[in-house]
Formats: sequence, structure tokens, C-alpha cells
Amino acid sequence: MRFTAATLATLAVVASALPTDVHYEAPKGGWESVDYPEGTGANLHEYPPPPGGWASVDYSKTGAGAAPAKCPEAPKMAGSPFTFTSYYEVKAVPGEVVNGTTPTGGLAGASGLFKIGLNSELNLICYNIEIYGFRGEYSSPAATATHIHEAAKGASGPPRIAFPNPVDVGNDVRRSVGCQQGPFKTGLMANGQDTATGFHVSQIEKNPAGFFADTHSSLAVPGAVRGQLA
Ligand SMILES: *[C@@H]1O[C@H](CO)[C@@H](O)[C@H](O)[C@H]1NC(C)=O
Repeated sequence: MRFTAATLATLAVVASALPTDVHYEAPKGGWESVDYPEGTGANLHEYPPPPGGWASVDYSKTGAGAAPAKCPEAPKMAGSPFTFTSYYEVKAVPGEVVNGTTPTGGLAGASGLFKIGLNSELNLICYNIEIYGFRGEYSSPAATATHIHEAAKGASGPPRIAFPNPVDVGNDVRRSVGCQQGPFKTGLMANGQDTATGFHVSQIEKNPAGFFADTHSSLAVPGAVRGQLA
């Protein structure tokens, strides 16, 4: 991001609004003595459930989430917090789906719109995906069934990015929105390594026609809808 005089002035205002006299007492034995429990930071795939399982958690009880402390007013930022070095809008349709090089017809009646923003300096991909008329269950040997694959139009290739599957938001629309920063993982192993190993979003920018977005259904395993990035 480019810092302008106005930005710096905004940051200065925010800094002066923060309390400056907060002192946390060190625990007995000092901070080094704190034994942090294993959690997602220890490369666990899932956050360990509490005793009794997630279903036993009563979110109405007191806690940080029950009565959030008042935040100081957020600084007003113009536009998106992210800067993209490229942007793609991909219409995904059943007619583009192939198995190998053989058209399968995909999932009749379904379609999709993948809005993809890349920042190749940060190796960051942001996405706003909508799938319309999806049927069946998501189905893929990868960690999710919604991907960017590397292959030219009419050909098949490995997933390089696995997006969280779009979820039902009503009116026959499924949506998935967020960002991921490399190193990436698809959860699909090929030749002993994850198909995202070493992948960098700049590879998409160098040759967007060599990549496509898709999602897979149990009713159309090779793909429900598909579209090339260029
Ligand atoms: C894709 O094609 C291969 C043959 O090339 C076939 O064995 C496989 O069953 C097909 N997959 C699907 C899901 O149709």
C-alpha cells in the first residue's frame, strides 16, 4: 500500500485513540513459563473440540463473544483493504467440463461465477464464488471440490488451489468468499506431494489461459461447471 499524508494522519489519530497505559503483569515464573496448549497453531487440521464436543458449547454464556468490548471506531479506509495485481471474472458452465479431453456435459442446469483477485507480491488469492443450480454432493479426492486447476481449455490438469466449497445462501445460490495466502495446499497428493506444492499465484498471471476454475458434484464427478481464467 502507498502511504499518503492522509493515511499517515489517519493512523496517527487511531494511535492516539488507543489506551497507552495498559500493563500486563507477568505470570509467576515469567512469560517463558507459560505452557500453551496444542491447538491449530501446532499444524492441527482442526481445532480440538472441547470436552463434550462442539455441540455442548452454550454460546449464550458469558465469554468474550457474549458481550464484546466496545471497539474504538475503525479508521475509514477508501475501497478494499487489498491491492490486486490482477483480477479475473470467470463464467463457469457445464459445457466446458472434460474428463481427460472428452467433454462430459457437466451438471446440466448449473452455472457459476468466480471472481478472483490476485496479489502476486503477497502470493495472495481472494475469491468471491457463486454457484447456481448445484445438485448432488460436493465430490473430489482433494480437500474441497472447488478449485483452480492448471490446464488449457479442453484439457484436464491438477488442482493448484482448493477453495472452501460454496454454501447455500438461498434462492439456489451457493457462495464462498475469502482469501488465501501461499504456501497453498489442495489435499490431493500426486507423485508423493500435494498438487499445490511450490505453487505461486504469479504462475496464473503469466498464463491465465492455462488455468480454469471449477467445482465437482457427485452427479458430475469430472466437474459440474468449468471456466478458463482467460
Ligand atoms: C474418465 O475417463 C476415464 C477413461 O479415460 C474413465 O476410466 C473414468 O471412469 C472417467 N471418469 C468419470 C468420472 O467419468
